[in-house]
Amino acid sequence: METHLQDRDRVGVQDAVLLEDYQSEEVFIDNLHKRFKEHLIYTYIGQVLISVNPYKQLDIYGPKDVKAYHNKHFFEVPPHVFSITDTAFRSLKNENREQCILISGESGSGKTEASKKVLQYIAEVTDRRGDVEKVKDKLLQSNPVLEAFGNAKTNRNDNSSRFGKYMDIQFNYEGNPSGGNILNYLLEKSRIISQVPGERNFHVFYQLLLGAEDQELARLNLKRDLDSYYYLSNGSKGNGIDDKKGYEAVRNALTIIEFNKQEQDEMFQITAAILHLGNVGFSEEEGIAQIVKPELIETISELLGCNAEDLKNALTNRTIETIRDVVTTPLSRELAIYARDALAKAVYDRLFSWLVYRLNSSLKIKDMRSYNVMGILDIYGFEIFDKNSFEQLCINFCNEKLQQLFIELTLKSEQEEYLKEGIEWQNIEYFDNKVICDLIEEKHKGLIAFMDEECLRPGDSTDMTMLTKLDKNLSYHNHFVSHKKADVKLQKIMGRDEFRLIHYAGAVTYNVKGFLEKNNDLLFRDLRETMSKSSNNIIQSVFLKEEQKSKKRPETAITQFKNSLNNLMHILMDKEPSYIRCIKPNDEKKSGVFDEQLVGHQVTYLGLMENLRVRRAGFAYRREYSLFLERYKSLSSQTWPHYHGSAKEGVQILVCALGYEGDEYKMGKTKIFIKYPKTLFYTEDAFQAKKHDLASIIQASWKGVLQRRRYKQMKEASVIMQKYIRRFIAKCRAKKRRKAANVLRNFIHGFITRNGPATSENRAFLELAKAQWLLRLSKSLPQDILNRTWPPCPHVCQEASRYLERLYGAHLSRIYRRKLSPEREAQLRLKVLAEKLFKDKKNSYQSSIPHWFKNDRVSDSVPKQNYGTILNGEKELYASSVMKYDRHGYKPRERVILITKKNLYLLEIKNAPKIKHSLPLNKLTFVVTPNVDKMLLVRIPEDLMKKDKGDLILEVPHIIEAMTHIINITDNPGLLTIYDKTPIEHSMKGKRGTIDVIIGNSESIHKDKTGHLLIMASQ
Ligand SMILES: Nc1ncnc2c1ncn2[C@@H]1O[C@H](COP(=O)(O)OP(=O)(O)OP(=O)(O)O)[C@@H](O)[C@H]1O
Ligand SMILES: [Mg+2]
Repeated sequence: METHLQDRDRVGVQDAVLLEDYQSEEVFIDNLHKRFKEHLIYTYIGQVLISVNPYKQLDIYGPKDVKAYHNKHFFEVPPHVFSITDTAFRSLKNENREQCILISGESGSGKTEASKKVLQYIAEVTDRRGDVEKVKDKLLQSNPVLEAFGNAKTNRNDNSSRFGKYMDIQFNYEGNPSGGNILNYLLEKSRIISQVPGERNFHVFYQLLLGAEDQELARLNLKRDLDSYYYLSNGSKGNGIDDKKGYEAVRNALTIIEFNKQEQDEMFQITAAILHLGNVGFSEEEGIAQIVKPELIETISELLGCNAEDLKNALTNRTIETIRDVVTTPLSRELAIYARDALAKAVYDRLFSWLVYRLNSSLKIKDMRSYNVMGILDIYGFEIFDKNSFEQLCINFCNEKLQQLFIELTLKSEQEEYLKEGIEWQNIEYFDNKVICDLIEEKHKGLIAFMDEECLRPGDSTDMTMLTKLDKNLSYHNHFVSHKKADVKLQKIMGRDEFRLIHYAGAVTYNVKGFLEKNNDLLFRDLRETMSKSSNNIIQSVFLKEEQKSKKRPETAITQFKNSLNNLMHILMDKEPSYIRCIKPNDEKKSGVFDEQLVGHQVTYLGLMENLRVRRAGFAYRREYSLFLERYKSLSSQTWPHYHGSAKEGVQILVCALGYEGDEYKMGKTKIFIKYPKTLFYTEDAFQAKKHDLASIIQASWKGVLQRRRYKQMKEASVIMQKYIRRFIAKCRAKKRRKAANVLRNFIHGFITRNGPATSENRAFLELAKAQWLLRLSKSLPQDILNRTWPPCPHVCQEASRYLERLYGAHLSRIYRRKLSPEREAQLRLKVLAEKLFKDKKNSYQSSIPHWFKNDRVSDSVPKQNYGTILNGEKELYASSVMKYDRHGYKPRERVILITKKNLYLLEIKNAPKIKHSLPLNKLTFVVTPNVDKMLLVRIPEDLMKKDKGDLILEVPHIIEAMTHIINITDNPGLLTIYDKTPIEHSMKGKRGTIDVIIGNSESIHKDKTGHLLIMASQ
C-alpha cells in the first residue's frame, strides 16, 4: 500500500482510505481520475477493489503480472484484481476459509471481465496436471456458452450479461480446482421478444444464423437472413460482433464441457423454434385469434418435439380451471400474441436454466471429499434509468441486500478485529440499510408481500391497484414515497403511476406499468401442458408434468427472486468476502475518457462513499507490528538496523521517536492502528527521505559485496594462475634438475670411466684429458735431444703419446741435425756406424763412445809426415800407430797404418816411412774379438799372399775407431767379423797360426809358451 505513496500527487493514493478528506466525493473521484490518467485502473478502499473500465487492453494481465502478484501481501503490491484474488485464494488454501468475490457495477463497467481475470489468475497459479486442467477448461469454457445464451449487445455494453451469475469454484485439499457450480439470477427474458433500438437479442440467435453450416440451418429450417425473423427484426444487426466466430467458440466449448450431440442438437432446435415462434402471426376473426401460417407451427412442433395440433390450440385458446369445472376459451389476437411471446420467453428462460443445470452437472465435483469454495458473484449493480421498472426494482433490491451483507461483514470483521486486538470499540456511524431491505422484503409488511397479495388476489387486480395498495400500506415509511406523499416539487416530476424508494444509494422512481404481469410471469396452462408432453428431452425436463398437476400457484417472480437472493446471502454469509466495484468511466465505451459526472453517479449508487466512511470510521490504517517495524525501523536509531526486542516494543519506540500524538494511534495486540492518513503520510514521507540514506548504505554495502566478490574471484583466479605457473616452473625446474642429474650422472660416470674405452659419457673427459695432456706436454717437452725423458700421458693418449714422442724425437733430431757442422756430422755418422758394428758385439765399444773419432792416431813419437808421395796421390783417410806382430815369433813391430779410399797401407817408420804392406781394402776381411782388446786380424786373401806372407795381426790402439773408419771408407760392413771363439786361426807363411784369447785382469798381447799368440783381454 505504501509503495507508491511518494507519487500520490501524480497518481493519487492507492487506497482511498488514505485520503485526508474522506468525506468529499470530489476528492475521491479526483483520486480515481488521477490514477485513471496514469492507466492505474485499480484503487482500494481498504480491502475493496475499485476497478475503472479502461476500455482498452492494458498489458497488466500477462504471466509476468501473475508472477508479480503470486503469494504477495496485497499491501506489498499495487492494487490489482490479481492481488484481491491472490489474497482470497491464499486465505482459502492456507486457512481453509471459504471465499467469495463480489463484483458489482453498472452495465459495461467490467464486472464480467473482472470475473474472467479472477478465473484466469486461479487457473494460472494452480497445477497444470491433466485432471485439474480439465476442470479449469470446463470452468473457463462455461463462459462462452453462458455468454452466448445470456449476453446481448445493449446500448451500454456490446457484451452485456443479461443475467446475474454466481459461480462457485470448488478446490480440493491440494488447493486445485476440482469442480464448480453456477447459480443464475433473473435472466432478462423480455429481450427475447423485443429490444430497444440499437440493442440486440441474445447473441446465440445471431451466432446460429450466421455461424452454423447450411446443413445445420436446413435441419432447423432456418434461413441465413436476420431480417426473416421477427424477434430479431427490431433489434440492431451485428455491427462489430463476430458471430460466426462466436458460434464456433460455443460449439467448441460445448464439446469441452461434454455436451453430447443430441443435447447440442436439441439446444439449437429450441433456439431455432423460438426464432420461428416469433414469426407466428395471428389474424382475428370475430375476436378470435387465427394462426396466419399454420405450417410454421408444424416446424416449431417438430423442433420442440411437441404435437402441432396441441400447440396450435394452446396458442389460440386458454383453459381455466375453476373450482367447479374446466373452461376453455378462445383467445383474442392480442392475447394470442401475448401467449406466443410468453411461450417464447418461458421456453428460452427454462432452456437457459437447463443450460446452467447441465453445466453444473458437468462441473460437478467427482471427488466428494471435503473441499473449499471460492464464489464469484457477477451481478448487476444499482440501476437508475429515466424509466425504472420491475427489473430495476429486483436489481436494486439485490444491491440493497449486497450492501447489507457488506455492512454486516465489514463492520463485523472490523468489530472482531478490535475485539481481537483488545482495542476499545468505537461506535461507527454508518447508514444501516436494513430498514430499506425490510421495507421491501418484510413478511406481510413489505413491498413484495403487498405486491404478491395483489397479484394473487382473485379479481381484477392491475398495476394501479397494486400501487394504491403499496401507497396505502407503506406511506408511513421514510423510504417510500408515493405521488400522494411526495411534496409539490417532487409531484411535478413523478407520475401518478410511479412510486419512489429511497435506496441507500439514492432515490429511484419506479413505474408500475407491467409490474403485475411480470411478477405473475404467466404462461397459460395449455402451453405448459403442451410443452410437458414434448419429446425433446430438454423441454421435457424443464416443463415437468408434476408442475401441471400441482394445484399450488407458482411463486411470483419477485418472490422467487427474493428467495434465491436470500439463499445467495446465506451462501455468501459464511464466506470471507472480497469486493470488486466496477466503474464505467464514460458512456461512449471510449478509452481515456473519464466523465466525472458519470463516475460520480456510480460512486453514489455503488455506495462507495459509504464504504469509505465505514472503513474510515475506525482507523485509516492498521498493520501488524512486525511489518510496520520492518518498513519504518530506519526512522529510529534504536530500531535500526535491527531491533532485538518484541515487534510491539519496537513499534512503540518508533512511534515515540516519530512523535505520534495519543489520539493518532492505538496499539493492539498484534497490530498498530493509525487513525489519520496524515500520520501515515508523515511517517511515509520521513521514510522516503530516509530511503536515500538507506539506499546509499545499501549501495555501499552492495558495492562492497560486489567488490569483495570480485576480489575473491580475482584471488581465486590468481591462486589458480599461480598454481599453474608454479607447476610450470616446478616442471621446468624438475626437467632441469633431471637434466642436471643426468649430466652429473653422465659426468660422474664419464669421470669414473675416463680411463676406459671412449663412450659418449666420458668423451668430454677424454677430450679434456687429451687437451690438458697436450697442454702439459707442450710445456714439458724435452728440449734436449739427449733428454730421453717423455712426460707421462693418460691412458687414452698413449698411442698419440708414442706417436708424438717419436715425432718429437724426430723433430728434435732434425733440429739437432740441422745445427750440426759437417765435421760433427761426419763424426756422428761414424759413431752411428760404430754402434751398428760394435754395440753389444764388442765389449770395448762402450769405452769408445765418449771419445771423438779422429783421423790421425799416429803417436807423437812418430815424426809427422806427409805421406802423399808414398801413397801416390791417394789421400790418407785414417792413420794410426799400430803394433804388428809378425810371423816370426809374433814379434811386435811398431808400424803406422794408413787407410785410403782403396787401400790399406802399413808403414814402417824409421827415418823415412816405408810401405811394408799395401793391401786393397775391398779384398781384405777384418777379424776382431768381442772382448776388450786391441787385436785386429786382417785376413789377406791367397792371391795377395805372395807378397805378404800371411795375415796381419795388429794391435790397434783405437780399434773401434779404426774399424769404423775402414768400414765407412769401404762402405762394406761385411768386411768385419767379430769372432767370438777361441782360438782364432790365421795364416802365416803358408802355415796356420793360432791366436788364443783369454780374459784377464789387464790387456796384453804376447806369444805364449805354446807358440800361440795369446791375447789377454780385460773384462
Ligand atoms: N479490465 C479491462 N480491460 C480492458 N477492457 C475492459 C476491462 N473491463 C472491461 N472492459 C471492456 O468493457 C467491456 C464491458 O465489460 P463487461 O462485459 O465486463 O461489463 P459488465 O460489467 O459485465 O457489463 P454488464 O453488466 O452489461 O454485463 C468489455 O467487453 C471490454 O471491452
Ligand atoms: Mg457482464
